[in-house]
Amino acid sequence: MSQSITTRIHTLTNELRAHNYHYYVLAEPTISDREFDRLLQELESLEQAYPELAHHDSPVKRVGGEVTKNFETKPHSRPMLSLGNTYSETELRDFDERAKKLTGTSFDYVCELKFDGFAIGLTYEKGLLVKALTRGDGKYGDDVTENVKTIRSIPHRLHGHYPDKFEIRGEIFMHRKAFDRLNDERLKNGEPPFANPRNSAAGTIKMQESAEVAKRPLDCYLYHFLGDENLFTHHYESLSEAKKWGLQINDSLRICKSIEEVWSFIEYWQNQRKNLSFEIDGVVIKVNSYQLQHEMGFTAKNPRWAIAYKFETERVSTKLLSVSFQVGRTGALTPVANLEPVQLLGTTVKRASLHNQDIIEQLDLRVGDTVFVEKGGEIIPKIIEVDKSKRLANEAPIEFITHCPECHTALVRREGEAAHYCPNEDHCPPQIKGKMSHFVARKAMDIDSMGEETIDLLWENGLLKNVSDIFDLQPNQLIELTKVTVDEQTGKRKNIRLLEKSVTNIITGIQASKNTPFERVLFGLGIRYVGETVAKKLAKSFKNIDTIALASFEDLRAVDEIGERIAESLILWFANPQHQSIIEKLKIKGLNLAINEADQMQITNKLDGKSFVVSGVFNTFSRDGLKETIEKFGGKNVSSITSKTDFVLAGENMGPAKLQKASELKIRIINEDDFIKMIA
Ligand code: IVH
Repeated sequence: MSQSITTRIHTLTNELRAHNYHYYVLAEPTISDREFDRLLQELESLEQAYPELAHHDSPVKRVGGEVTKNFETKPHSRPMLSLGNTYSETELRDFDERAKKLTGTSFDYVCELKFDGFAIGLTYEKGLLVKALTRGDGKYGDDVTENVKTIRSIPHRLHGHYPDKFEIRGEIFMHRKAFDRLNDERLKNGEPPFANPRNSAAGTIKMQESAEVAKRPLDCYLYHFLGDENLFTHHYESLSEAKKWGLQINDSLRICKSIEEVWSFIEYWQNQRKNLSFEIDGVVIKVNSYQLQHEMGFTAKNPRWAIAYKFETERVSTKLLSVSFQVGRTGALTPVANLEPVQLLGTTVKRASLHNQDIIEQLDLRVGDTVFVEKGGEIIPKIIEVDKSKRLANEAPIEFITHCPECHTALVRREGEAAHYCPNEDHCPPQIKGKMSHFVARKAMDIDSMGEETIDLLWENGLLKNVSDIFDLQPNQLIELTKVTVDEQTGKRKNIRLLEKSVTNIITGIQASKNTPFERVLFGLGIRYVGETVAKKLAKSFKNIDTIALASFEDLRAVDEIGERIAESLILWFANPQHQSIIEKLKIKGLNLAINEADQMQITNKLDGKSFVVSGVFNTFSRDGLKETIEKFGGKNVSSITSKTDFVLAGENMGPAKLQKASELKIRIINEDDFIKMIA
C-alpha cells in the first residue's frame, strides 16, 4: 500500500475534524462550505477504495454512511430526569427560599437557556464518542449513535485533557431557518410539513437512514456533565472544561449570585429570545456547587437543586374576518384565516394557517368569531381556540369549498389524507406557475434570471403554458411585455417590464440550462414525491427518461427507496399524454434526458489543479453553477485570493478590494466569456 495514501487519509481526517471544530464550536469557519465538501468527498472516495485505512471515527461518518435498521434499547448510566418547572416569579422565589433553607448557606446559581429540542446523553471513552442514547423512559433509551454522528457540532473525537470515561447530556435541535427550508421542501414535494422545530429534530434523529439524517441540519448544545465526582467541584467549571475538549456549550451561560440576578437573566432572554436563531422555551437555573447539589438531592422525579422557568407562549385575541383558500404547486389546498391585524411577539399578525378541514372542524370555527392566536413553537401563527363567550348567535360554521378557487375544478380528498387537492394539475394557474418556478429553481434547471415575477409576466401574456414553452422564448417576444401590479403593503401600482439586459440574461440562462444533468431535469419536472434523492436514484437505475416512462410498477418498486406511493405517482404522471408531449418537446430542445456517463465519472480535466476565486454576479451561470463547473473540469475553488490562486473569475459588482489584491499579486483576472472559452 502506498504510504502517500495513508498519509493523505490521515491529513484529510485531521483537517476535516479541525474544520468541524472551527465551524461549529468556535463559529469561525476557516474555509468555504464548498471547499469543505470537496475535502470530504476526497476522503470519502479514498475510504471507499481503501476501507482498511479509514479511521474508526472518520468525519465521513457524519454524512451518514451507515444504515441503522432499528434502534437498540440500552440502560442509562444514571436516570435521565427532567426538571420541575414554573411560569411564575413567586414560585421561582419560593424555590430560592427552599434552596437556602436546605443548604443553610449562601451559594451561586448557574443560569442557562432552556433549549427546545430533545434530550440526548453522549458517552465518551478515551476521547471517542461511543454511545448516544435518547431519553426514552428515563431508565432506558434508544441507541441513536450512528445518526448522532452525522451532527457536525458533536465531535467524534475530543482533544485536550479529557477524562477517560464520562457522559455529557444535552439537547439536539434544529435552527429556525433550517426548519423553514425543510418544510418548504416538504411542501414542494407534496409531503406534510412538521409542526415545529422540536418535532422535526426528534423525527429526524429517529430516521432509519443516517444518510437522510445527515441532510437535515441538526445542532446540539450540551449542559450536564456526568463523570467522576472528584473531577470538578462546580457545574460551571465542568462545562467550561468540556468546552476545551471540543464539546459545544452555549455561550449564554452565567453565574448569578442572587435570585435578583437570576431574574435579570430571565428578563433579558424573555426579550431577546426572538433574536436567537433557534427556539428556547425558558431558562434553567441550577445550584453551581456539586457539594450542595449532593446535599439537596432529588425528589422522585426531579433534582431539588435545579428548576426550569418557562416562558409563557404569547397569546392574543383577535377577530376572524374571513377564510380564504390557497392552492399550492402540488394542488394542495391550504385554508388561511384572515384576521384583524394584531401584535404578537414583535410582529403584526394578519393571517394564520388553518392547515385543513379537520382542524377547522375541531376548532368549530365561524367567521366573526373572536379567536386566540399563538406563536409558540411554530413560526406561522396558529389559532388555538375560539372564545365562545364572545360568539354571536348568527355566525354560521365555515364550509370547506368544494371547487378550486382558481380554476373551479371539483376538489378531491384522497383516502387517508387530510388535505383537499385540485386535480387539475396541468391547467390550474397556481399549479402551473408553481411548477415552472420549481423547474427553474436552483436545485433543478438553475435559471436564476427567471424569478417568480418573470414567470407571472410570461404566463399572463400567454407565452408559457407548460415548462417546455420556456425553450421557445425569443428575445423580441420578451422585450415588449408589461404588467401592472399593486403592492400589497403600500397599495402602490407597480409597472413590471423586462429590461433589455434582463431579456439577454433570461435567454442566455435558458440556453445554459440545457446542460443541466438528467437527474436535475427529472427533479425539475415536479412529479409528486420525486424529490432530489429519488430523482437521483431513478436516473442512476434507469439511465434515461424513456426507460422510466416504460417501467412497470414492479420495476420501479425494485429500486431502493422507491415505495408504492412514489411508484404509483410516477406511473400516473407518465401515463398522461400531455406529460408525454412535454417530454418529447424537451428532447427536441436538446435537454439532457439521459445520464451522461462521462459526466458521472467526471473525466474532464481541462482545469487540472487550477485554483479559482469566483466573485461578483454573472450573466450565464449562477455563482454556484460556476463553482460546480470549475470542479467538474478538475479545477478547485478557493475563497480568498493568495499568491497561489491561478485565476480570479470576476463578475459584475466584484469588490474593489479583491480586484486590487488580485492585481497586486499579479493574478490573472478573467471574465465569464474567457472562462467559457477555457472549458469549451
Ligand atoms: S438540565 C437533571 N439544562 O429540558 C437536570 N435541561 O424539563 C437535567 N433542557 O430534561 C436537565 N435545556 O431535556 C437542563 N440548559 C438545560 C436545558 C435542559 C433544555 C431540557 C432537558 C430537560 C428538560 C427539563
